Amino acid sequence: MSAEQLRLVRERVRDFPDFPARGVLFRDITPLLKDPEAFRAAIDLLEAHVKDKHRRVDFIAGLDSRGFLFGPVLAQRLGVGFVMIRKKGKLPGRTESVSYTLEYGQAELEVQSDTVEPGQKVILIDDLLATGGTMRAACELMSKLKAEILDCVVLIELKFLKGADLLKPFPLYSVLQYD
Ligand code: PRP
Ligand code: ADE
Repeated sequence: MSAEQLRLVRERVRDFPDFPARGVLFRDITPLLKDPEAFRAAIDLLEAHVKDKHRRVDFIAGLDSRGFLFGPVLAQRLGVGFVMIRKKGKLPGRTESVSYTLEYGQAELEVQSDTVEPGQKVILIDDLLATGGTMRAACELMSKLKAEILDCVVLIELKFLKGADLLKPFPLYSVLQYD
């Protein structure tokens, strides 16, 4: 991992205390998305991790909505497809759903039942892991479809919330960690 790339990414995440609720320190990726060099560095780091750790990947599965900012770009880099894990009520056809708790609320995630075939190798991606509730729900969804979950990857991990523990036995990779 290049220290320079990591610096570029870290510099482009800004903090907003008490958003969206009192006591939450919101890590805002807006500056990162606005800066093509920093955004490229973020994708480079994600791509390097996946290529280093996984010989074959069938799909990148992105979590609604900020996982959609990174997932399709990473999937293109890897030359694989992208699939959507959406908030409830957005997908047509037969779906599977799982409800979950996040740092500031309760929600439900959904996938189309035919989005991946049993045994296909999937990497889940989101911008940020806080309590891990969202990513865990996404893992449960992929498990319902009998996909093989290779890895969970995020740009930002809020270490103090111990979300990685909730994901076990699935591994987590994060580009940036905050204590
Ligand atoms: C945020 C973030 C992750 C999730 C992490 O999404 O993008 O998906 O929270 O929290 P957790 O680890 O405690 O589950 P949010 O639900 O705010 O939706 P958004 O991506 O549509 O903004
Ligand atoms: N999603 C859940 N917790 C968050 C935080 N602290 N900052 C940004 N997005 C989040």
